[in-house]
Amino acid sequence: MKNKKIIIDPITRIEGHLRIEVEVDENNVVQEAWASGQLFRGIEMILKDRDPRDAGLLAGRICGVCTSSHFRGAVTSVEDAYKIAVPKNAEIIRDLMAMALFIQDHVVHFYHLHALDYVDVTSALEADPKRTSKEAHKYHPKPFRNSHSHYEETLKKLDNFIKSGKLGPFSNGYWGHEAYKLSPEQNLIMLSHYLEALKFQTKISKAVAIFGGKTPHPQSIVVGGVTSVADMLNPQRLNDYLFIIKDAQEFIERAYLPDAKLLAIAYRDEIKAGVGRANGNFMSVGGYEFEGERRLFCNGVIYNHDFENIEDFDASKIIEEVDRAWYDGDTAEQEIKYTDLNKDGSLKTVKNDDKYSWIKAPRYNGSTMETGPLARVLISYTKKNPLIMSFVDEFLEATNLELLDLSSSVGRNVARAIESSYICEYIFKLVSRLLQNIKYYDTQTWTKYDFSRVKTEVEGKAFLEVPRGTLAHLIKIKDAKIKNYSVIAPTTWNATPKNFDSKRGAYEEALIGLKIQDLTKPLEVLKVIHSFDPCLACAVHVIEVKGKEFSRYKITPLLM
Ligand code: NI
Repeated sequence: MKNKKIIIDPITRIEGHLRIEVEVDENNVVQEAWASGQLFRGIEMILKDRDPRDAGLLAGRICGVCTSSHFRGAVTSVEDAYKIAVPKNAEIIRDLMAMALFIQDHVVHFYHLHALDYVDVTSALEADPKRTSKEAHKYHPKPFRNSHSHYEETLKKLDNFIKSGKLGPFSNGYWGHEAYKLSPEQNLIMLSHYLEALKFQTKISKAVAIFGGKTPHPQSIVVGGVTSVADMLNPQRLNDYLFIIKDAQEFIERAYLPDAKLLAIAYRDEIKAGVGRANGNFMSVGGYEFEGERRLFCNGVIYNHDFENIEDFDASKIIEEVDRAWYDGDTAEQEIKYTDLNKDGSLKTVKNDDKYSWIKAPRYNGSTMETGPLARVLISYTKKNPLIMSFVDEFLEATNLELLDLSSSVGRNVARAIESSYICEYIFKLVSRLLQNIKYYDTQTWTKYDFSRVKTEVEGKAFLEVPRGTLAHLIKIKDAKIKNYSVIAPTTWNATPKNFDSKRGAYEEALIGLKIQDLTKPLEVLKVIHSFDPCLACAVHVIEVKGKEFSRYKITPLLM
């Protein structure tokens, strides 16, 4: 029998526009996969010829979710180009904003973007509140909001919601699919936390806004430092921030981490079968000062799950290719060329094995890489980072899993929950360091600079670990104007198309060998892709190394 192709376009519950196409054999097992970024944005083109001081605010608009990551990345790249030393307090304030974003991103991803691939809403309606409360105790001694009455109330809410007929986020689910493994009680626990996480989302955003002025798109990071000096010196503001983090920590400890345990135990067979495992190449640039030389995340590169031989990260080993992305020319001279239309201008419904994505193909030392919380946790743990060891050991022991098991769809969620947990600890450390500086009258938050007279061409780079993985901002400046700008975002790595080398990226590799029970309800595919926390808005970028003008491009509307 001939192989069949199925197309999921768009993948929902992600940021941006992603199309996934898979080819399955007669047993519905995935033989080949194509991940395609469907949105062209071109923020780099907007940045060209601008004042470098504006880079942060403009680059922040790359994404409505990862705003402060790009904001900081852009500003840091300008500071690197002009060798501007940023005061310690400014770095701490930037870190406090970044860490709050990590927690926000991870929790929102787990509950609101991904949980419904594991949680069957309709099954939760059959749960018994008393048994639910007992079940929750298996994963934490003091589960979050675990009273019978709370579960009864949650059931009532759900019932009213369903009766209203306006299902909102619960519409179009593959309810009743046999890939759902949780009991009604386990489903109710997760759904209760799904609703609680909506409140969490609002609160944690305020933590970013305390030092950012607002969120998304904070305003307070400037070349040379931060502007939120009044907030830093106001004990009430610091207290507000800490109060939110303490609340967040309670939710993470008593709901998020236990829920990750619940999933890891219930979906053990999937984990042991390596469902969602990519090629085992992981990359992290590390970062965030903890104490002296010690960093919150270690840098490193792992090939093919070889945990024994970790290499140090080396930025010079990164290249970006475009063979199978919708650009023409070599890396130095690229023209935008959309090739996936039929002659009549309509979108091709079945993929040709040539150009198929707006996402470029970054390679590290010639290999595709997975980046993100899983990469960070595996690298930091294997490099014996004492900050993370106990969190990972405790989790693996409680769930009777091994380190390699984390290289799976469920494992990516586990990595996020573990990361959130130890980031909370790190935040308290950061705040006490800030208070210490202020106590000794070190209140500087900005370094004065003047680069208007620098006429030579300068280059700057910023490599940062951000919630979804490794982010690079690369800038060239001449005569105080941006000459060229380039971004390689975490999703650019994970969702990379194939290249002349035909090597699959992490999304594509993770889908190979996946068994799909029902081709009309490809829940298994969604689960694998969602586990990466895709951000397609971030992933699509254009570079123009020589500073030559881009060709014009025309968007052909798709008339249905
Ligand atoms: Ni993003």
